[in-house]
Amino acid sequence: MAVLVIGSGGREHALAQALSHDPGVSAVHCAPGNPGTAQVARNHPVDASDPGAVAALARELGVDLVVVGPEAPLVAGVADAVRAAGIACFGPSAAAARLEGSKAFAKEVMEAAGVPTAAARYCTTPAEVAAALDEFGSPYVVKDDGLAAGKGVIVTDDREAALAHAAACGRPVVVEEFLDGPEVSLFAICDGSTALPMQPAQDFKRVGDGDAGPNTGGMGAYTPLPWAPPGLVDEVMDSVVAPTLAEMARRGTPFVGLLYAGLALTSRGVRVVEFNVRFGDPETQPLLAVLASPLGRVLHAAATGTLTDVGRLAWRDESAVVVVMAASGYPGTPKKGGRIRGPRLAGSDDNVHIIHAGTALDDGELVADGGRVLGVVGTAGSLAGAREAAYAAIAQLDFPDGFCRHDIARKAAEEIS
Ligand code: AMP
Ligand code: GLY
Repeated sequence: MAVLVIGSGGREHALAQALSHDPGVSAVHCAPGNPGTAQVARNHPVDASDPGAVAALARELGVDLVVVGPEAPLVAGVADAVRAAGIACFGPSAAAARLEGSKAFAKEVMEAAGVPTAAARYCTTPAEVAAALDEFGSPYVVKDDGLAAGKGVIVTDDREAALAHAAACGRPVVVEEFLDGPEVSLFAICDGSTALPMQPAQDFKRVGDGDAGPNTGGMGAYTPLPWAPPGLVDEVMDSVVAPTLAEMARRGTPFVGLLYAGLALTSRGVRVVEFNVRFGDPETQPLLAVLASPLGRVLHAAATGTLTDVGRLAWRDESAVVVVMAASGYPGTPKKGGRIRGPRLAGSDDNVHIIHAGTALDDGELVADGGRVLGVVGTAGSLAGAREAAYAAIAQLDFPDGFCRHDIARKAAEEIS
């Protein structure tokens, strides 16, 4: 089977790498890819968000499966164009991608499906925003209704800042009740009617140690979660994933692809914070590092409505941690062009591999070319060992313009040691 991965970030490098390890996958292509995907796949300079161009490339390459990484191409209809060309695609239609593309649509589906989530108000005027802020009280949660690369949400005690964020969005916003409690990312691989859960992961959204500073796309992640309540996955499959799939099918827009349930484990029970319609970045990096099942076979089964043939996913009995190296300035304006050197950039060894997220080659030299630049993945028999491996590799990196969080997975590793 030949596979084409769409996108150019860390998630896509991790997907391409895992696909290249599947003995059933004969060729991996990536569009547009990055210098990391070039180590495990063939890159093609095609605009990921151009449905016609992606479908034409898939046909020209004769691939058997297209895996769409980011949300923007999905919302733009890339999966529809690929399927219309007669090629299997792992990724939802534009209609189903609205679960991520519009917070208001996601809330509407959750309500219709009886999925537990935060109470919310859809606001189109400053007066509506102010009224909703006062209804729910502090801490205030205001979300841009549309796609905002993980940066459309503000959670603050400052009413003025909440109002200013709503105004800055420049379009409708969702104001909602604050959800307390730890967050978990649970990914379900869906074929339109059935779903297979991956194991839970946790990501670190704030830019600074101790969860200080603004939200980012994600500064690190780990899996599995030693502290997760037993039965969590079954509960979420029953109360969130299955009803959502049924509701999407009922609407005539079945969900094929990765349903990402961002959950808060509140004192009143599990609540959905958000849906995404694609693999999480960076959670995918540690998840795929410990996935034992052949990724290509699983994603092809989902794309062709035959997931029930796969059975359960198998996992290695190991922990994995990714620590993201970001460029200074992120999540504001990241500094581009900073030089990156280090002994492990060209590949992986037993317990560490480096994933490229925002890198480029400048005259043959690796440089920063985005906010999140690298993801350093450590795996080991224990979470503490996986952290140590990742941070030891980071200590060997020579990336003067880069920074990372120092506390990724620390609390969880300490609690079990
Ligand atoms: P979203 O884009 O909806 O995922 O939100 C990004 C992040 O903002 C989430 O991962 C949470 O950390 C935080 N957040 C979003 N909604 C809420 C909420 N209702 N209560 C508390 N935190 C939230
Ligand atoms: N890690 C958060 C996201 O992928 O949206």
